Amino acid sequence: MERLDATDAGIAKATEILKAGGLVAFPTETVYGLGADGFSAAAVRSIFEAKGRPADNPLILHVASPEMAAEAGVLDEHFHLLASRFWPGPLTLVVPRRPVVPDEVTAGLSSVALRMPDHPMALQIIESVGRPLAAPSANSSGRPSPTTAQHVVDDLGDRIAAVLDGGPCRVGLESTVLTLCGVPKILRPGAVTAGDLERILGVAVENEQGSAASPGTRHEHYRPRCPIRIFEGGDRPAVMEQDGVIGYTGDAASCRMARRAGSLEDYGRHLYAWFRSADAAGVETLYVELPPAEGLGSALRDRILRAAGSQ
Ligand code: TXA
Ligand code: MG
Repeated sequence: MERLDATDAGIAKATEILKAGGLVAFPTETVYGLGADGFSAAAVRSIFEAKGRPADNPLILHVASPEMAAEAGVLDEHFHLLASRFWPGPLTLVVPRRPVVPDEVTAGLSSVALRMPDHPMALQIIESVGRPLAAPSANSSGRPSPTTAQHVVDDLGDRIAAVLDGGPCRVGLESTVLTLCGVPKILRPGAVTAGDLERILGVAVENEQGSAASPGTRHEHYRPRCPIRIFEGGDRPAVMEQDGVIGYTGDAASCRMARRAGSLEDYGRHLYAWFRSADAAGVETLYVELPPAEGLGSALRDRILRAAGSQ
């Protein structure tokens, strides 16, 4: 695959590939996305092929403005309140779809997921293509989401035309997914928390992770290849020399790989890269510290428990 940089020439090349129905991975503030023309059924089908993604897992349409979102979805008062506060940003809103959206994007559902990413390169290519880009995380299915262009190259190699290199992602965990079909419910926790959403909406926001309403959470496991053992903050796991340990408190253990984040934000930014490093270092068991379920801790716990639960 070709690596494109943040120049006008790089953006122009990416636009040309996307307009011709090809695939281009691009950076967002959360993780790298694997983009295709979101209004082309054939282009969207090739995303599923490149990733080995189950066809019943719908995709997010990435837009450059709320006006572009209105082309694909039916937007209500709650949508506008949230978009004006959190867009561009790590919040995906699920709303009733319009007929122009191909079934391939929504996996046949009557709703569509919309997000305006907070990254200049992402916004630039969406604008220059002039249509929403369908984009799942640019990993092969089941692997941790990519937070650098190199992760995309490692996972997808020659299965896609190009990756736009925007450096490491700022947030590192996938967006919060909130459905506005019916009472607002979080389908996947992320950097925008239930408390943040409740303050803007003025109503309670439920959590409905792992349910049938959230197809993706059945499939994806965000896991490294090595087994994971979780431990709660402050506990001291019995880490052996051939093991690895990652967390955000405590002293660095002496073992094959030890990483400690300076804060929950830093932990979110590095979690997936550290999963990948553990595999590269040949770690036998990876010990992973669970933060409390507060703020970004809820999203971190979700991803870590999913990674551990799937072994
Ligand atoms: O941060 C992110 O959201 C990243 C970047 C690239 O934007 N994208 C991402 O996409 O994580 P993906 O495909 O890995 O996850 C999309 C999630 C899945 O859990 C999927 O089931 C859910 O969004 N989703 C998409 N459309 C939906 C819909 N109509 N109803 C309910 N859930 C939906
Ligand atoms: Mg994903």
